[in-house]
Amino acid sequence: MSRILAGNWKMNLGVAEGTALLRAIGDHAVPAGSLTTVVFPPLTILAALARERRIQDPKLGVQNCHAEPKGPFTGEVSPEMAREAGAELALVGHSERRRLFCENDASVQAKMKGVLRAGLKPVLCIGETLAERERRETRDVLSRQLGRALEGIPARAPLWVAYEPVWAIGTGVVATVDEVAEAHGWVLEELGRMGRGSAAGHPPVLYGGSVDPKNASGLAALPEVDGFLVGGASLAAETFLAIGDALVKAEHAI
Ligand code: PGA
Repeated sequence: MSRILAGNWKMNLGVAEGTALLRAIGDHAVPAGSLTTVVFPPLTILAALARERRIQDPKLGVQNCHAEPKGPFTGEVSPEMAREAGAELALVGHSERRRLFCENDASVQAKMKGVLRAGLKPVLCIGETLAERERRETRDVLSRQLGRALEGIPARAPLWVAYEPVWAIGTGVVATVDEVAEAHGWVLEELGRMGRGSAAGHPPVLYGGSVDPKNASGLAALPEVDGFLVGGASLAAETFLAIGDALVKAEHAI
């Protein structure tokens, strides 16, 4: 199966820098079928990047969107508008959205429905805080976030999941290989119990949180890790592509 390399640019990069980075990513050769690459740029440069791409690679996504198709929601952008601008995917429920912009399980569920209605592929972000991990609530949090976000959504709907422990995002503290294996194993079990995965296949589950070229190989070797959602290290071609190479190498070693 093709591994996934996703870059969340957050509130960084304008048209010139973003275009240069997109070109560098597009020009980097990997064995055919070994890697699917996606970037989530700021909305203001999405359409410019969509025009820039010569082929549909890398794919483009939005970091956030509103649940409704249109209406009086000042400052918001609908999933349909994001799609028109060139997005194929949408991050839903990133922990920065939950923590800084008051998103909760209910709004995440509404956004999941909106994203699917517009024909975008949702990348559902879930993960526990440090306090929740210390209280040994990681499994409960992951089950709750998955269950609530997917309520009412058909089992066959397109879905990627990103496990992103909040304490590892932007902190330089990466989860250990054992912690990631355990959390991903649990997510896969839960998806199976919800009828969204079987031995024949399951939605891809990405890991995110301080992934860099140094720690990528160890994590990429885990069979439970289908790819990475990379923040800080996705802003430079050299580090982002080195992480992609680690995924490709691990794929050949498995
Ligand atoms: P980070 O961010 O790689 O900078 O920790 C990951 C994310 O927020 O998706």
